[in-house]
Amino acid sequence: MEQKYIRFDTLNSTYVLRVNEVGHLENLYYGPLLASEENLTQLFHKRDNMLGTSTGYDASVFDNAYSLDARFFEVGTAGKGDYRKPSIIFLSDNGYSQDYKFVSFNTRKVSEVTAEGFPLPHDASKYYEIEMYCAISNSTIYLDYLIFKESDVILRRVRFSGIGRLEKISSFNLDIVNNNYEVFATYGTWGNEAHPFTHKLMPGVFELQTNAGPSSNRHNPFFLVKEQDATLNSGIVYGFNLIYSGPFSATIERTFDNRLRIQHGINDDLFAKTLQEGESFVTPWGVLTTSTKGENGVSQNFHHFIQNHLVRSPFAKSARPILLNNWEGTYFDFNAKKLKYLIDDASQLGIELFVLDDGWFINRDDDRGGLSNYEVNKKKLPGGLKEIANYANKKGMKFGLWFEPEMISKDSKLYEEHPEYAVMIPDVSPSPGRNQYSLDLSNKDVQKYIIDNVSAVLESANIEYVKWDYNRNLSDFYPSSRVFESFFYDYTKGLYAILEVLMNKYPTILWEGCASGGNRFDLGILSYFDQIWVSDTSDAYERIRMHRTLAKAYPLSVMSGHVSAIPNHQLLRNIPLQTRFNNAFMSGGFGYELDLAKLTPLNKKFISEGNNIAKLFSEFVINGNYYEFKTNSQKEKYSYGVISEDKKHALVLVSNGSGSILPETLTLPALPLLEEAFYEVTTMEQITDIGSFGSLLKRVLPKFIKYDGPIINYLRKRKSTEELINIKVQENYVASGKLLRSGKLSLYPEWTGTGVGPTTRSGIDFNSVLYFISIKDK
Ligand code: DGJ
Repeated sequence: MEQKYIRFDTLNSTYVLRVNEVGHLENLYYGPLLASEENLTQLFHKRDNMLGTSTGYDASVFDNAYSLDARFFEVGTAGKGDYRKPSIIFLSDNGYSQDYKFVSFNTRKVSEVTAEGFPLPHDASKYYEIEMYCAISNSTIYLDYLIFKESDVILRRVRFSGIGRLEKISSFNLDIVNNNYEVFATYGTWGNEAHPFTHKLMPGVFELQTNAGPSSNRHNPFFLVKEQDATLNSGIVYGFNLIYSGPFSATIERTFDNRLRIQHGINDDLFAKTLQEGESFVTPWGVLTTSTKGENGVSQNFHHFIQNHLVRSPFAKSARPILLNNWEGTYFDFNAKKLKYLIDDASQLGIELFVLDDGWFINRDDDRGGLSNYEVNKKKLPGGLKEIANYANKKGMKFGLWFEPEMISKDSKLYEEHPEYAVMIPDVSPSPGRNQYSLDLSNKDVQKYIIDNVSAVLESANIEYVKWDYNRNLSDFYPSSRVFESFFYDYTKGLYAILEVLMNKYPTILWEGCASGGNRFDLGILSYFDQIWVSDTSDAYERIRMHRTLAKAYPLSVMSGHVSAIPNHQLLRNIPLQTRFNNAFMSGGFGYELDLAKLTPLNKKFISEGNNIAKLFSEFVINGNYYEFKTNSQKEKYSYGVISEDKKHALVLVSNGSGSILPETLTLPALPLLEEAFYEVTTMEQITDIGSFGSLLKRVLPKFIKYDGPIINYLRKRKSTEELINIKVQENYVASGKLLRSGKLSLYPEWTGTGVGPTTRSGIDFNSVLYFISIKDK
């Protein structure tokens, strides 16, 4: 067969395939953009002898030394000498052996790409299709590529047809030479999502995977493969993800001769698909990106792709309303009166959307029942949802509502009428999760039930925001169709079928995904929902870790962060309001989740002023170019923020870890701003209640005043005098772009135990400072 090269270029990357003499599709290169006149033969694998126990491909063809084990392929197969992990495992009448050969390469119109029941990103630059055929198994695959040029992102999926049993099919297979690469990925669990870790690749197979049902809080489906000495801003980094919300498996195999085989796709554990004549199977889209500009380069590629091609407009790039969610403020314990008080307070503080969380329907005064039947609890809300929505609207606010549509409680009417709608094995005691069960979304009747059920509620009042929750993993994998092999896959596609209808029906609603927080934080969900509740842990400091880690692959615009009460309900940690505000504000879905009535007048004043600032800057948080910055501190200090495209403005969050008395000279992290310009750097007033100095106050206060005594407490509650007991510090600097680029701008020091001055920051543990940076007019 005549050799042929296939080359895809994005703005800054190149992907090269070769159809070799035998017709196999070799993956020659994926990395930084190559010269347009590049001699692609340079990329060939140069070995022309076989190693001892290698298996030759076929003695009768062009070259005895040709062994599949030594080459780089676009599809990994078993049975003809490639002993790495196959990317497709298919059992045909001839067994597991497979041998795909090139049939055709087609440049197709972008409008011709079919969704196949999966979310489909929009506005691709190019669509290419490669057809391959395997004579041994009599099966055909189409490799589909969508190129997103400006984002430097390539999507790949496989469409498969053949008669037999498909046991594994990765969305992509990438063979590259290992250049001291390591993996960056996440692990976690409920309330404790998105811990970052780095793994040095050793010979063998490294796997990130989950079987929980959703993409899960165990590992997010994104990961980076990076040069060990790549930094935040330099070095080659690859980024991978999957547009899928079900169980996935990502593997990286390091071979004996230091090559890597990277695969990502649906998890092949607990999966198979038996295909008959005329049937086919399609994988979700895998996402590939690469950058020479370090981790931030890859993050920016992912963010560009998500904001321009994945999240639905009009929400992708616009400011979201500041919200108040009643969950941590009231939990299930509310009635119309209480909600109206919350709305009153919220509207006075400039909050724009009131969200009624769990507990508004019958049998739902705790988390033990009620799911699947969304009939309003008239005891709590005698005027129904309409009354609350209208009340919020009258106060100039929007109204939003919580749902958990994929679930069923045993005490429900639906369970009585249709027990087969619940995922349970007949005559086997089911495994509960949060006292509830999953509906079988692979069943079309269930899909219709959910669509009708949700639609009826959405039409019963002026609901402009929905929080779609999902609070348990799958178990007892028994759909009523008894198609067991592909249940996870069918469930996930069932979810997409429902969401496709609802998104088209209600295009102006702002949708927020939630799965006990981040149990389904993935690109599949973000194809429908505009933002996701990151975690059930609302503690501001934990959120810094989560948001910073997730931001490697997802823009701040899709993360929701709320200011909650102290002590924090999950950690009992006390973080100052200022920091709780800063950290939540740096997320697209910014809001509050606490009983506003419990705030002191000064806190209310802060929130009201803070909301004005948030309104001015929220579009910038959403659309600015994201960077993580390196701090000069030896402590657990983290920094990230956004810089405008023209580099005239920046918003930089610097977060402290646990405090120590070790004084450090703090500097503002190096920021890539305009060298020739001057900037003003400023903060909001940082307020410290003198009560936080504890009994130290004895040294300065008259003897009869105790730091936690009645006088201070009285002052704390008085509007006018509350300010008396607070120390205010505001940082203001003017610095050149050169100085800001150097990372040497010296900042106000932290409290170290021997005195307070006008430049001392006294909030120590876990506090943060937000720096507003703007070019200075000449
Ligand atoms: C879990 C969510 O993450 C919370 O924010 C809240 O909505 C509860 N579910 C309600 O049950």
